[in-house]
Amino acid sequence: MAAAAVAMLTSPLLAGAEVSPAEAQGMPNCDITCGNMSVPYPFGMGLARCYWPGFNLTCNRTSNPPRLLLGDGTLQVQELSISNGSTFVSVTHMGDIEVDSNGEGKLGGGLMTNGPFTISYNQLILVGCNVQATLKNGNVTMSGCSSVCKNGDGLAQARSTLEAGMQCSGNGCCQSDIVFNPEVAGMLSNNTSYDVQLKWFGWNRSADQASPAHVFVTSYDWFSSTAIFHELLRTDAPESADAIQVPIWLRWEVVGHGAECSNVCKSKHSNCIKGKRGYTCSCKHGYQGNPYITDGCKDIDECKEGGYTKCYGDCINLNGSYHCRCPPETHGDPTIPGGCPSPVPDKQYCCNLICSYYRDESK
Ligand SMILES: *[C@@H]1O[C@H](CO)[C@@H](O)[C@H](O)[C@H]1NC(C)=O
Ligand SMILES: *[C@@H]1O[C@H](CO)[C@@H](O)[C@H](O)[C@H]1NC(C)=O
Ligand SMILES: *[C@@H]1O[C@H](CO)[C@@H](O)[C@H](O)[C@H]1NC(C)=O
Ligand SMILES: *[C@@H]1O[C@H](CO)[C@@H](O)[C@H](O)[C@H]1NC(C)=O
Ligand SMILES: *[C@@H]1O[C@H](CO)[C@@H](O)[C@H](O)[C@H]1NC(C)=O
Ligand SMILES: *[C@@H]1O[C@H](CO)[C@@H](O)[C@H](O)[C@H]1NC(C)=O
Ligand SMILES: *[C@@H]1O[C@H](CO)[C@@H](O)[C@H](O)[C@H]1NC(C)=O
Ligand SMILES: *[C@@H]1O[C@H](CO)[C@@H](O)[C@H](O)[C@H]1NC(C)=O
Ligand SMILES: *[C@@H]1O[C@H](CO)[C@@H](O)[C@H](O)[C@H]1NC(C)=O
Repeated sequence: MAAAAVAMLTSPLLAGAEVSPAEAQGMPNCDITCGNMSVPYPFGMGLARCYWPGFNLTCNRTSNPPRLLLGDGTLQVQELSISNGSTFVSVTHMGDIEVDSNGEGKLGGGLMTNGPFTISYNQLILVGCNVQATLKNGNVTMSGCSSVCKNGDGLAQARSTLEAGMQCSGNGCCQSDIVFNPEVAGMLSNNTSYDVQLKWFGWNRSADQASPAHVFVTSYDWFSSTAIFHELLRTDAPESADAIQVPIWLRWEVVGHGAECSNVCKSKHSNCIKGKRGYTCSCKHGYQGNPYITDGCKDIDECKEGGYTKCYGDCINLNGSYHCRCPPETHGDPTIPGGCPSPVPDKQYCCNLICSYYRDESK
């Protein structure tokens, strides 16, 4: 069940990913574009009335192309869609998570306390020798794994594991899903910052740290399916992890500040979904647009927009649906080509019967 859920979620952004600028809608008089990205409410930029608390983004327009940033600017937004009730935002983090000399680091990049985002549906990846990584939110451990190197073999085992197309198994690198179990959900603090702790357990720590340990939070399959590990695990001058763009999915819900269905899903024709921490919305079947703003869900004109319907007869758009019927005085199945045959042959046939009947009578 859990595995199936994870498999289903491996590409939550793919299907509804494209945001057409026309579709994105924000609060009145709010800037909703940053380069070629659009920023639909509850996300927003600038003035506080332009976003739901915690959903503020910034646009760095001095960089080329402009960059849409989250939190303190360490997370860059790559994809943002609210269509079809999508509740993921795809971001990139530059490099691995920095840890201090005690092995302690933080992920969260200025995400607001009591904020909307969680990092479930990602993985913890650790590259290093005789080291353990733990990811915690407050007191709750969300993920952890350990990586061992046999004497002297450094990261060679990790390299051969990954080159064979296998996943990090604990030899030189390890990986572990970040879990948001229902039983811990209630215990999580509202703090969307996460603590990372590295602990070395080998007998010769200086040998183990000869090649630096790297810890990442990243979307599924990023590490094993890219050439990144080749660079990181090179024995000669490995690439600095700082230069690597690490993809992360953030899942969001509208939380806090009196959030409830009636003030979150403001549009008529919207559905409200109660999540683990807050609420999300989608437009009802037959409508599309932004369910988070008044009148944001617009009727889909199924008759005009291809792909919604196969109607070969007369198509009549209705609010939330459509009606497909055979043209007047024809009958049949209007959903197949040629499904509404012209009635003319029937009439002639009928006429012929009657005429021959009269001819017979007149004999
Ligand atoms: C989202 O909606 C559009 C238009 O209604 C549809 O083409 C697309 O397949 C939908 N995507 C998902 C993931 O349901
Ligand atoms: C925006 O432009 C970048 C390249 O500059 C491209 O990779 C990306 O797909 C574009 N995004 C959208 C939503 O068009
Ligand atoms: C915006 O981007 C430019 C170029 O990447 C960078 O020099 C500048 O510091 C950024 N500004 C902010 C406010 O982050
Ligand atoms: C978002 O707003 C909060 C306060 O509401 C502020 O602390 C934070 O810096 C803002 N973030 C961005 C990216 O503007
Ligand atoms: C963590 O656990 C300790 C001891 O059980 C407790 O006192 C503390 O309040 C907890 N902190 C959080 C943030 O839940
Ligand atoms: C988190 O915030 C919600 C409402 O904002 C509150 O009901 C809940 O008690 C908070 N949880 C913790 C652990 O602080
Ligand atoms: C949130 O968590 C981070 C990391 O654990 C911590 O540094 C910060 O003080 C916490 N903030 C609050 C308001 O609890
Ligand atoms: C620990 O490893 C370092 C580097 O490989 C080596 O120089 C040193 O002799 C080792 N220490 C012990 C006690 O074996
Ligand atoms: C659709 O709804 C609008 C406004 O709610 C209404 O003016 C219009 O008459 C409705 N159209 C149909 C075909 O029901």
